Amino acid sequence: MKKILITGGAGYIASHTNVELLDKNYELILVDNFCNSVYESVKRVEEITGKKVKFYEADLKDFVQLEKVFESEKNIFAVIHFAALKAVGESVEKPLMYYENNISGSLNLYKCMMKYGVNNFVFSSSATVYGDPAEVPVKEDAPVHATNPYGHTKAMMEQILLDAAKALGWNVVILRYFNPVGAHSSGRIGEDPAYPNNLLPFVSQVAAGIREKVVVFGDNWDTPDGTGVRDYIHVTDLAKAHVSALEKLENDKGTFIYNIGTGRGYSVLEMIDAFSKACGHPVKYQIGPRRSGDVATVLADPSKAEKELGWKAELELEDMVNSAWKWQSMNPKGYK
Ligand code: NAD
Ligand code: WQD
Repeated sequence: MKKILITGGAGYIASHTNVELLDKNYELILVDNFCNSVYESVKRVEEITGKKVKFYEADLKDFVQLEKVFESEKNIFAVIHFAALKAVGESVEKPLMYYENNISGSLNLYKCMMKYGVNNFVFSSSATVYGDPAEVPVKEDAPVHATNPYGHTKAMMEQILLDAAKALGWNVVILRYFNPVGAHSSGRIGEDPAYPNNLLPFVSQVAAGIREKVVVFGDNWDTPDGTGVRDYIHVTDLAKAHVSALEKLENDKGTFIYNIGTGRGYSVLEMIDAFSKACGHPVKYQIGPRRSGDVATVLADPSKAEKELGWKAELELEDMVNSAWKWQSMNPKGYK
């Protein structure tokens, strides 16, 4: 049973990944400081899988706290590093908080790995590192050109990691997620944002009557219906990409970067329409101005992940919106 350390282990994507990893009999050590999550998600993961995890409440910014985890847990096979602040708008307002949390936290983690001889690493990166890509679908060798502090932290963490991997002989899989959405099929774990920054959680709260209407950020983009097009990926498909990444690390040495998306894009209006079908009533929306920093279309070319990881997204748009609505309906107040 290989032991995996999961940072940000109580968060949205980690929770779904934890379910898939426990189903594959990995032993999980979770670390989180609950700055954007609650312990309830961990309990539910244990209930869904019928398996236990080990949990440490620790802040990655605090080297001493983090070192205690490495001191107590021998023989860690790999780290999956989810812990980060991730709200683009907030990162523009509070860049130093983002650099401190995401960069200092990661540096502490890398230093602990070096000190305790952990050599395998999976990193949660993002399509945000491509900024406004010159060509879509985007391939992994497209230029890294982030356009906001959050994106810069992801690009920097990738670079630091690749430099460390080269010097220290680490094996690294960088997963660049596109737009993760949806929830576990049980409806018991899902995304629980204090305020929804992303489209689908917002649509979901409008459908539930928590918010009045969705403001569509522009209908004059150069896209088929004028609204922004994105590559939405079901969080369960994304979770499974982490299992494939660990299998890659078990079999191959080196550093690898993969886009994790479907390769298929949907517009904002298509998402609202699909969600309206899932919840059984029209989701109210209004066309508003463009959001600063947005781009028309972002789409993954996921063929490298399929070829080298043997991973491919399997779930459809219907699964994404149905599962998101199931989670919303079963948990109107999130984990509270
Ligand atoms: P999330 O906020 O639900 O999960 C992140 C977790 O990390 C939270 O539980 C939070 O409490 C924890 N955390 C943050 N800083 C910490 C610190 N200093 N010490 C300990 N724990 C800390 O977010 P998520 O959507 O699950 O995202 C997970 C990862 O995926 C992040 O790195 C994010 O940047 C990346 N990502 C997310 C998306 C997305 O749209 N959700 C897209 C691309 C990449
Ligand atoms: C999707 C589409 C909006 C909200 C962000 C981050 C990216 C990654 C994923 C972490 C766009 C439109 C949205 C609303 C709208 N996160 N929209 N009304 O901007 O593609 O990516 O999340 O790494 O880094 O930038 O996702 O969900 O915010 O927007 O019309 O109320 O929905 O304009 O076209 P985005 P999103």
